Amino acid sequence: MVKGLPTSVLVVGSGGREHALVRSLAASPAKPRLLCAPGNAGIMSDATCFPVAADNIAGLVDLARREKVEFVVVGPEVPLSLGLVDQLIAAGIPVYGPKADGARLEASKIFTKQILLKHNIPTAPSAFFDEAAKAIAYVRARPTPIVVKADGLAAGKGVVVAQTHAEAEAAVHSLLALSGTPHSALRTPQSKVLIEDCLFGEETSILVVVSGRDYVILPTSQDHKRIGDGDTGPNTGGMGAYSPAEVVTPELLARIDREIVRPSVNAIANEGLDYCGTLFIGLMLCPQNVGGVPSPRIVPKVIEYNARFGDPETQVVLPRLKTDLLSLLWAATQRQLAGFQLEVNPDYALCVVVAAKGYPEAFTKGDPIVLPQASSLPPQTFIYHAGTARNAGGQLTANGGRVLGVTSLAPTLREAATRAYAVCDQVRWPNKYFRRDIGDKQLNRQ
Ligand code: AMP
Ligand code: GLY
Repeated sequence: MVKGLPTSVLVVGSGGREHALVRSLAASPAKPRLLCAPGNAGIMSDATCFPVAADNIAGLVDLARREKVEFVVVGPEVPLSLGLVDQLIAAGIPVYGPKADGARLEASKIFTKQILLKHNIPTAPSAFFDEAAKAIAYVRARPTPIVVKADGLAAGKGVVVAQTHAEAEAAVHSLLALSGTPHSALRTPQSKVLIEDCLFGEETSILVVVSGRDYVILPTSQDHKRIGDGDTGPNTGGMGAYSPAEVVTPELLARIDREIVRPSVNAIANEGLDYCGTLFIGLMLCPQNVGGVPSPRIVPKVIEYNARFGDPETQVVLPRLKTDLLSLLWAATQRQLAGFQLEVNPDYALCVVVAAKGYPEAFTKGDPIVLPQASSLPPQTFIYHAGTARNAGGQLTANGGRVLGVTSLAPTLREAATRAYAVCDQVRWPNKYFRRDIGDKQLNRQ
């Protein structure tokens, strides 16, 4: 047993991200007992699952107490925003994840924007409104495309990148009507919209493990947010990812650290938020215009903060860590992160999300799924479960929009893609849908 590390860990959540967290924690030399709430059909093979929903705060605290859990790792944003971490700390249970005040960095885009502006962290110009008429007058005075965002948590449905003024005006009405968040316990009495200039460039996800003013930047990654090949169609939670994102060269990463990460962590601490958890910085890498001509110099700008690991970014970042994940998250929680050195596998990781046909709109649940045998998987390939369950007969079924994530590691990104796609093709499920171009942007540059 590794000295000082917790011997039992509860992971909260039920997605592909949580499956990846559980798998990486299971690989810890400390060999902790692993619990998950509520988990899914895949997590069940790696942890003991308890049917307590991720938004049942009292139920989760109770579970942690009852099972004498020594450490809790919170996956999704809703329990963070509902104050799960505050409640666990009050119960004396160590936990990785920000308290509700820190989770506001994700739950309120206006709160974050105000922090970004106050601390001079590069971001898009914007304004916010609680009245449709004023919002529309502002929209009409700005160039298109223009971005309209609901202020609260909206499970990926709160952002519209409008190509025309008419589309932006419709978005103002529909997002104000969303009342901020679909989660009733988090609904704000007064809904607001943030209207923001459109940024152009490539997006990248920077995941940072933060402990007060100390932090460790995890390997870079890129998500594929749109449902369709070639980045078309509506936004989703994320349809695939790869790591490293080579568009972030070592020099650019050093600048991102200097210009974005360090200032963000300091700003959050200076605002009095005692932040412990993942800070996920969504960045646009904007090519700079010099006299109207795009120059090769990139200006990184913050699109958003999230208060948690990304999904599916986690499914490509964690498998590349040679460092024990439990030691890393525990060090953050114990405020011993200063000087923590990460060891990273140089291989490429690529994850293809297999979703239910129809996602992110209507889709059916309950279809049986047959996965390829574990023994027939290519090397270094894992099937992470997201929306999966078992029916009364024990058959694996689809139980959500994003259902599986196939991650492969390989010495080249192309080989990682070949391996992951071979598995996606073998999944027997007539209603499966996945993008065919995960990784292409980077592959086409090579
Ligand atoms: P958010 O929830 O703020 O990350 O927005 C979801 C997605 O909308 C982002 O990942 C981007 O693809 C897109 N987006 C958000 N804000 C902007 C912006 N200012 N300019 C361009 N695209 C944006
Ligand atoms: N993949 C983007 C997110 O987790 O928000």
